[in-house]
Amino acid sequence: PGSIRGYSSSGRLKEGSATTETYDLSVIIPTFNEEENIAAIIGAVNEVFRQNGIRGEILVMDDDSKDRTIEIVQEIAGQHDNVRLIVRKDDHGLSQSVVEGFGAARSAILQVIDADFSHPPELIPRFYEAIQDGADIAIGSRYMRGGNIEDWPLKRRVISLGATAFGRMLFPEITDPVSGFFAVRREVVAGAPLAPRGYKILMEVLGRGWWETFVEIPFIFKDREEGESKLRADTMVDYLKQCAGIVRFAVARRSGPVWTEWTKIVRFGLVGLSGILVNMGLLYALTEVAGLYYLVSAAIAIELSIVNNFVWNDLWTFKSVRDLRFGRRIQRFLSFQVVSMGGLIINMGILYLLADIVGIYYLVANLAGILVAFAWNYAVNRHFTWVE
Ligand code: GDD
Repeated sequence: PGSIRGYSSSGRLKEGSATTETYDLSVIIPTFNEEENIAAIIGAVNEVFRQNGIRGEILVMDDDSKDRTIEIVQEIAGQHDNVRLIVRKDDHGLSQSVVEGFGAARSAILQVIDADFSHPPELIPRFYEAIQDGADIAIGSRYMRGGNIEDWPLKRRVISLGATAFGRMLFPEITDPVSGFFAVRREVVAGAPLAPRGYKILMEVLGRGWWETFVEIPFIFKDREEGESKLRADTMVDYLKQCAGIVRFAVARRSGPVWTEWTKIVRFGLVGLSGILVNMGLLYALTEVAGLYYLVSAAIAIELSIVNNFVWNDLWTFKSVRDLRFGRRIQRFLSFQVVSMGGLIINMGILYLLADIVGIYYLVANLAGILVAFAWNYAVNRHFTWVE
């Protein structure tokens, strides 16, 4: 499982009272005009409960559908004790409905799933087990190995990739932070100041919930066969506002996953800048003062700037990272060295490509190279050198 540590709410996640719950798992299904799907999805989820011996409840959070959804669910709820319908009249919205569902649920593990079979219900037990095994959040990911999206028009793919990329800037460790298919431990959201708007409820949970560990589960998103997506342009505006709100919240609280990761990214960047100074200073001194051939000076300057960066990153940037996989500093150094050489090659490759082949001014081309190399260095070192 992946995890983000350094979270200040220590102890808070352990406070559950799972033994007194009526159910083991609550599956929350937000609906708006789902008459074609709702009976089938309820049936499928109940079948999953039965086959896996899960004492589960189903909570349909409906936003006062104009079709027969309410009628259909009322009828099913009359026959099945574990199915409940909540019809919401105010504050229409997918995220708002899910949050209200969190509050109404009668179990310690909360699962969210679309009504339209975009999310395969047979994976529910994997989410349930992941939380039972200790993860605070289990996320269904379309963008990790094994995940995919079927039947999406190009426009939808591009929009989703943009939204996901934006979300990943806040949560670099998570491949699909805008997924609508996820499960959380109730303590994660209980009392969290969720201010949901729009579609991206998971972002809100990640940004304002109390969590430390997460697991991602790959799944294949199948576009709905019945009915149509309710995603509109103002949903995107809502999403951008939501991201801004999460960042403001992280800064105000000065803790939590967004804050923890971004402190590292900023520090890593500052260390990188110090490395450039070391590199330039040494190149000048060794060439002009010591009289070395400039390429020899450059090789020494590059290596010493790598050493400089390593020392600062090890002592400062990643000092909060405990349980390092490479316990020994020398191993971390070798790993950092290899990654940095990769970064150097990327930087020079992009510089050459953009300046020589595309014809962009070489200082601008170099800036692009530095940015990509920076992203590479951070991401790869985070996964291999200072890994938690
Ligand atoms: N209660 C309620 N209120 N439910 C809603 C509303 C609403 O305003 N709008 C949509 N829903 C329900 C639908 O009935 C369906 O069960 C589910 O939410 C998803 O709605 P779609 O309109 O099909 O969503 P989508 O396919 O565009 O978006 C899905 O994928 C996104 C990732 O790209 C959702 O899973 C999103 O949460 C997810 O971010």
